[in-house]
Amino acid sequence: MSQKGILSRRNFVAASTAMVAGVTRSTAAGTTNRSADLESRLARRELKDIFKEDLPTPCMVVDQDIFESNLKKMADHCTKTGIHLRAHVKVHKSTEIARRQLALGAIGLTCATVAECELMAHAGFNGILLTRQPTSKNNIARVVALAKRDATFGTVVDDPQAATWLQEAARAENVKLRTVVDVYAGLTRHGIEAGRPALDLAKQVDSSKNLKLFGIMGYSGRAAHTHVFEERFKKSRSDLSGMLETVASARSAGLPVEIITGGSTGTYNIDSELKGLTELQAGSFVFMDTLYREIGGKENATTFDDFGSALTVLATVISKRHPGLCTIDAGNKALLKPTDEVKGRPDVKIENQGAEYGLLVWKDGDRDYKIGERVEIYPSNLDMSTNVYDRYYVTRGERVVDVWPIMGRSGAAQR
Ligand SMILES: Cc1ncc(COP(=O)(O)O)c(C=O)c1O
Repeated sequence: MSQKGILSRRNFVAASTAMVAGVTRSTAAGTTNRSADLESRLARRELKDIFKEDLPTPCMVVDQDIFESNLKKMADHCTKTGIHLRAHVKVHKSTEIARRQLALGAIGLTCATVAECELMAHAGFNGILLTRQPTSKNNIARVVALAKRDATFGTVVDDPQAATWLQEAARAENVKLRTVVDVYAGLTRHGIEAGRPALDLAKQVDSSKNLKLFGIMGYSGRAAHTHVFEERFKKSRSDLSGMLETVASARSAGLPVEIITGGSTGTYNIDSELKGLTELQAGSFVFMDTLYREIGGKENATTFDDFGSALTVLATVISKRHPGLCTIDAGNKALLKPTDEVKGRPDVKIENQGAEYGLLVWKDGDRDYKIGERVEIYPSNLDMSTNVYDRYYVTRGERVVDVWPIMGRSGAAQR
């Protein structure tokens, strides 16, 4: 294609993108090389005059204003109700985001994997809790190493055998490891049975020389996504009841239970009302996903809109050969799902058509997409989606104002 052809196509793309975004900027013709040297400019952190239209797609875009308001809203809620936030990082895997959460008052971070703990610990953060019991030699050794560098680091256990292994590993390194007993709260994937088994495990931890019984965890994962606020309230109360009875028995037995940890974005204002937990492990509220929006809130029964949708996958229309549908460059590898939603076009259905292809399908012929047009998609599952990208492009309107790396994405260090 001639240089003139390239320029005219670029102008067309820029114009259609600007139209969609409601932007009337006319600078595209003078900035034809912006995308070409994007990487080197990002490396030099020269973000001036980088716009969404310059980004390679599919990519992840964070709306800074909505994101900041989500963080503040949760921080204010915690201050007002007295519950603490130990923010779950699995949803964002970003030290930039964790730093902002801690600055707003979070008492620490919860992590699903040892690798996430390492990432956060090496960034200098304290109060990290691993919420998935370590059982492999590899993970146990790394957990003990984390406790050695930071006495505020802790892990959960739901099995006497794991507690024994951790005690042996901690003794070998002469370390005292904060340990939280994970009690079943309605989610069969983890948690020792409430009552006698949980109490016995708490006693075992307490009497282990190199373990420090720190508290009790109960994560009611089924309650988190229960639709209708009142139903969610009932489900939370019943799922947490056994765990809270165990806390009472442990305290009567003279065991130290400093923290009672659990909770989620879906139950954040239920957990603070129930007064059982001392801290919330909520994570998704920073970005919100489409599935969470459907559960309904306390104020708005149809949409859980306490927190705004701050994260989108930006994609480009790459083919438009049939009426009422077009192809975008986000498919299986971008974890596109039929439950995702197109920003500003709730009428559009999303289909997956292969590794690098997605389909948008709609009925309104007056609202056709054009090739080159940019589309923003709200993901249905944040953890999975962020796991396939290397960075967040942080934006204000059309402007890219920051770029945050997502945790190391290759090799054993990921796990
Ligand atoms: C152990 C644990 N705590 C808390 C959460 C809550 O996270 P969210 O607020 O994203 O629902 C999760 C989510 O899977 C979890 O696994």
